[in-house]
Amino acid sequence: MDKIVVWGGVPLRGEVTVSGSKNAALPLLFASLLTADECRLGRVPQLADIRTALRLLRDLGVQYDWLSDTEVALKADAVHHLEAPYDLVKTMRASFLVLGPLLARFGRARVSTPGGCAIGARPVNLHLDGLQQLGASVRVQQGYVEAEAKRLHGAHISLEFPSVGATENLMMAAALAEGTTVLNNAAREPEIADLALLLNDMGAQVSGAGSSTVIIEGVPTLHGTEHTVIPDRVEAGTFLIAGAMTSGDVFVRGSRGDHLQAFLAKLREAGVNVEETADGIRAHYSQRPTSVTLSTEPYPGFPTDLQAQMMALLTLSDGQSMLTETIFENRFLHAQELARLGADIRVHGNTAEVRGVAFLSGAPVMATDLRASVSLILAGLAAQGVTEVSRVYHLDRGYERLEEKLSQLGANIGRVKSEK
Ligand code: UD1
Repeated sequence: MDKIVVWGGVPLRGEVTVSGSKNAALPLLFASLLTADECRLGRVPQLADIRTALRLLRDLGVQYDWLSDTEVALKADAVHHLEAPYDLVKTMRASFLVLGPLLARFGRARVSTPGGCAIGARPVNLHLDGLQQLGASVRVQQGYVEAEAKRLHGAHISLEFPSVGATENLMMAAALAEGTTVLNNAAREPEIADLALLLNDMGAQVSGAGSSTVIIEGVPTLHGTEHTVIPDRVEAGTFLIAGAMTSGDVFVRGSRGDHLQAFLAKLREAGVNVEETADGIRAHYSQRPTSVTLSTEPYPGFPTDLQAQMMALLTLSDGQSMLTETIFENRFLHAQELARLGADIRVHGNTAEVRGVAFLSGAPVMATDLRASVSLILAGLAAQGVTEVSRVYHLDRGYERLEEKLSQLGANIGRVKSEK
């Protein structure tokens, strides 16, 4: 397995361009299953998760072509297989999102259940309850969900929790259902609004996406379209922290402040200078951050996907910070690894108490999940000496050309390829 080596202590300065959002691109790729026409997606990031999604789509019978480094054309006019196997779904949980579109267009689907993952149990009960309310018969057998419906019908569905994935699966399914679906307590993430834009461009009738109530008037068929994926707010937030943590000055071109308000508010509270412009966001800082208290929440609250990176920043704060994780039950795996660099973090249940230290020092550490891995890279960039992060395949799932982009900002960072 590859390792990333960081020689820390260099202030990062300059400009970097944000990539397309992984979490928006995945459901958009799967939405191509809803029509036999060609769909073209632009600003698609080159990531392991995107390659996994395309592999799954190809197995189902979807043809795709990369038209450039960032644009992909997909055509689902010869879907011959209605199953997502365990080996793909366990590699990437978002594969579960093929269930809604396959069921809505072809009347049945068989999709492996994802199982738990490092950060929590992550069940799919809300997806399944919602699909049943849309008229599907759903059975779980031998680790697979088997769902069937001649034609789905509209329903009033109230989600117990505003799950991002359940909202996406149900929106895609309801787009081709007969009648009106009202989705209450829907997730409000920008990725949901992006999916609704694509669906509407394909001829769907979705309103309210981005608010808690999404209304979908089902239509009999959808058609092809072109769409550009929104910028990755998590990647943008990560680079802004990289600038702040190394007492540098980083401008993230293309990032959208309106998607990052709760995060930017906490960054400012920590004393970081943040400037939002029409072209992107700049963060610069030269002192020790101030401690802050935060709790992760569904959007528009502080994103769980930036909690680990924020924790890395706060390890160097002047004071004691409290971070509460409310979305996933086990998302502090990075705390022990950050402690290897000298951070003082005590975890009590779903709260982490971070007592700021004056400096971190490099050490070998191990990545445990996607956002945890990048928090270790951030800490390594700010630490004195050398940090080696192993198991970086997690990073490759979600950060496009990370070392190249950080090097562009002046970081001393490199990858040691595994001999295998
Ligand atoms: C998506 C994001 C992920 C992000 C998360 C929360 C993608 C590909 N991934 O994941 O990066 O961290 O949103 O912002 O977009 N839950 C249930 N039952 C369900 C579904 C979810 O109990 O049927 C629980 C989960 O266990 C978890 C919480 O709800 O504790 C949030 O999950 P959800 O919003 O569904 O996250 P994902 O869509 O998996």
